[in-house]
Amino acid sequence: MPRSIIVGSGKAIPPICVTNDMLARVMDTTDAWIQERSGVKTRYYVEKGTSSADLGALAAAEALANGSVDKDEVDLLISATMTPDHFFPGNGGLLQKRLGMKPLTTFDIRQQCAGFLYAMQLADVHVRSGLAKTVLIVGHEVHTGFMPYSDNSWACMYGQSEKVTPEEFEWNSRFRHLIPLFGDGAAAVVVRATDDEGRGVVDQLLRTDGTDYDKLYVPGTGFSHRPYTDPEQFKRGDHVPVMEGRHVFKLATTRMIEASQQVLTRNGVKPEDVKLVLMHQANMRINEYCAKQLGLREDQVPHNIERYGNTTAATIPLLWDEAARAGRIEKGDQILMVAFGAGMNWGATLLRA
Ligand code: COA
Repeated sequence: MPRSIIVGSGKAIPPICVTNDMLARVMDTTDAWIQERSGVKTRYYVEKGTSSADLGALAAAEALANGSVDKDEVDLLISATMTPDHFFPGNGGLLQKRLGMKPLTTFDIRQQCAGFLYAMQLADVHVRSGLAKTVLIVGHEVHTGFMPYSDNSWACMYGQSEKVTPEEFEWNSRFRHLIPLFGDGAAAVVVRATDDEGRGVVDQLLRTDGTDYDKLYVPGTGFSHRPYTDPEQFKRGDHVPVMEGRHVFKLATTRMIEASQQVLTRNGVKPEDVKLVLMHQANMRINEYCAKQLGLREDQVPHNIERYGNTTAATIPLLWDEAARAGRIEKGDQILMVAFGAGMNWGATLLRA
C-alpha cells in the first residue's frame, strides 16, 4: 500500500508587520502583557483587499516549486481555512482557478486550527487507497476580516492618524483578549505517494467534540439567523469570534497532551525519539506546558508564534516549511504534529519524513 510523504512546502506571509505597541495605540493593552501571556511579539496583516485565496495561491505555488511538482500532476487539492473568501463556494475552486490547474477533486474543510491535520488524514487515505498520487494541501487565513476596527482605528494603528476616540478605544478593548493573538498567513505542502516503507504517515488520531463549541465561535453572520447577516449583529460585535480564553486554554492542553500520548504509545514511540513536534501555535504557554508534560526537550519543539501569532490552519505547515528549509527535517525522521482548535477539533499525526 502506498504511503504519503511531504515532498515540498511553501508559505506566504503578508507584508504588514504589526507590533504589540501598534495594537496598544488603539486598545487597552501592552506589549508586556501580550508577550507574557501569549508569546506573540508581532503578527502580519494583509493589505485591505487581499483574501485568503490570494495568500493560499502564493503559498501553494511556492510549495509546488519547492517540491518540483507540476501543477497538472496534482490530483487532489484540499483547502483548509476558517476565513474563506465567500460563504460559498469554498476556496478550493478559487485556488484551482488562481493556480491555473486542470479540473480536479477538491475538498474545502473547516476544522479551524486542527484543519491541517484533518487535511493530512484526507490526503493520506486518498494516497493509500490509490485514489490520488499527488495532493496539495493549503492552510490559509486572513483573520483581519474579523477585526472590528473603524477606518480611524486602522489608520491610528498604522501611524496615519493621531488617535482614536474614547468610544473607539473602548470598543476595540472589548476584543483585547482575542485580536492580539491572531495574524494572517498561509502555508502549503505537497503530499506524494511513495513505496518506501520506511517513510510516510504512520498514524493519525482526529477527534471532534461539539459540547463546548460556544466557547470559541462566531455567534453572528450565520444561517441560524434570518437574514444571515444584518446591521444589528455588527453593532453587537457578533461577527467577531467569542473566546473564553481560560476554558479553551485548559481544553487545548488536555487534548493535545492526550492525543500526542495516545499516538506515540500505540506506535511504541518514545517522546525522546521524535525529532520534531510541530504544535499548533495558539499560545506559547499552551505549548510550553504540553512540551513539559510530554517530557520533550526544547530543541524538539520549534515555534514561530512570536513572529506570526496564530495563523489557524497555516501554523503547522508554516512550521514544517521553516524547519525543512533550515535542514531540521531529514529523510526518515519521526515527526509528530498536534493541534487543537474551535469546534472543538483536535488531533495528532505521526509520520516518518
Ligand atoms: N492586554 C491586557 N490585559 C488583558 C488583555 C490584553 N490584551 N487581554 C485580557 N486582559 C486581561 C483580562 O481582561 C483579565 O483582566 P481581569 O483580571 O481584570 O478580568 C486579565 O487580563 C486576565 O485575563 P485571562 O483571560 O485570565 O488571561 P489569560 O492568562 O488566560 O490569557 C489568553 C488570555 C486568551 C491569552 C489565554 O487564555 C489563551 O491563550 N487561551 C487559549 C486561546 C486559544 O488557544 N485560542 C485559539 C484556540 S485554537
